Amino acid sequence: MSETDPNAPAPRDDASATPHRRRPRYKGTHPRRYAEKYKELAPEQYPDAIERVLARGQTPAGQHVPILVDAVLAVLAPRPGERGVDATLGFGGHAQRFLERIAPRDVVDEARDGPSAARGELLALDQDPLQLPRTVERLAKLGFGSDVLHARRTNFAALGAELTALGWDDGADFVFADLGVSSMQIDDPARGFTFKFDGPLDMRMNPKKGLSAAQWLARASVEELAQALTDDSDEPHALRIARFVKAQRSELATTVALAECVREALAGRADDDAIESSVRRVFQALRIEVNDEFGALEALLRQLPTALRAQGRVGILTFHSGEDRRVKKAFERGLKDGVYASTNSDVVRASPEERRSNPRSAPAKLRWARRA
Ligand SMILES: C[S@@+](CC[C@H](N)C(=O)[O-])C[C@H]1O[C@@H](n2cnc3c(N)ncnc32)[C@H](O)[C@@H]1O
Repeated sequence: MSETDPNAPAPRDDASATPHRRRPRYKGTHPRRYAEKYKELAPEQYPDAIERVLARGQTPAGQHVPILVDAVLAVLAPRPGERGVDATLGFGGHAQRFLERIAPRDVVDEARDGPSAARGELLALDQDPLQLPRTVERLAKLGFGSDVLHARRTNFAALGAELTALGWDDGADFVFADLGVSSMQIDDPARGFTFKFDGPLDMRMNPKKGLSAAQWLARASVEELAQALTDDSDEPHALRIARFVKAQRSELATTVALAECVREALAGRADDDAIESSVRRVFQALRIEVNDEFGALEALLRQLPTALRAQGRVGILTFHSGEDRRVKKAFERGLKDGVYASTNSDVVRASPEERRSNPRSAPAKLRWARRA
């Protein structure tokens, strides 16, 4: 079940109650630290600054550029009046495009049909309590309010319960998931996902729930850590890194401390590029463990057959082999059992242009299936 209903607009700063604060100053011509990117963090005030960041192939701070949008729309084929699910709302880039298709304002004669007569509805899930209200507010300003957008702060492992709570017992016409973390989460050092900048070693998509990455590391044994590094990110030096990390006298509390520790563990054993790849894999594996990403994905995949109406479509964007393997297997098994009528054998990838303009699209793979 959902933990909150964030359809209510996010609380605004009360200017009269908040003392004026000088904006952070930065050295040089471009802000480097997240907190200094005040223009990117206020896109309505500074649209030109956003355009310039996008033109450089970067993602503006506080935003997420949606990936493979045309391919996702082609696969899911959302139509006016349909019911859809976006299991990973994030910044709402994909959700906005679904809503434009299923709930277009111009096909409705409100005086004749009532305010939501021909408009479809989208159930949107995200477990991130910080981003969800901002996205709900952003989409409401675009005309997609709580009459067509049902946003719930919850793990997508609870998809079936959310459909039931909404009275959608026969399921939805399409379900979409864009796995992993958003740019807003990765880029904000305070969330602890990145080792590019120092921050608390947290990595929780829902920081109000479960163990932080630092706590998880402190509790894990050498064997558990080595297993996670192997299973979640195919790290070739898993045991060496695990032993070295667990031999540290004090708890690794920050992202930079963990990255440095992994570099030290591998010093002299691999070249610099290979060591940086290991650091990335360690961060990926920890993130997967802290958020139980594979447990949630498997729960979602199990529920899909009943979450989709007959001929319903599902599309899932995966970003590494652990995710892709699970989605591929579930769709192939469903095809064999007659649950799905079709699925793709060749994954859909981002074009060279999209990879250039949004490098975060490079590892993405789109898999889809159609319910029998
Ligand atoms: C890659 S982003 C989605 C971006 C989105 N498609 C857009 O256009 O902005 C993934 C989002 O899914 C959320 N998420 C990841 N796993 C989740 C889960 N198991 N349950 C609910 N939300 C999840 C993350 O918090 C993040 O906001």
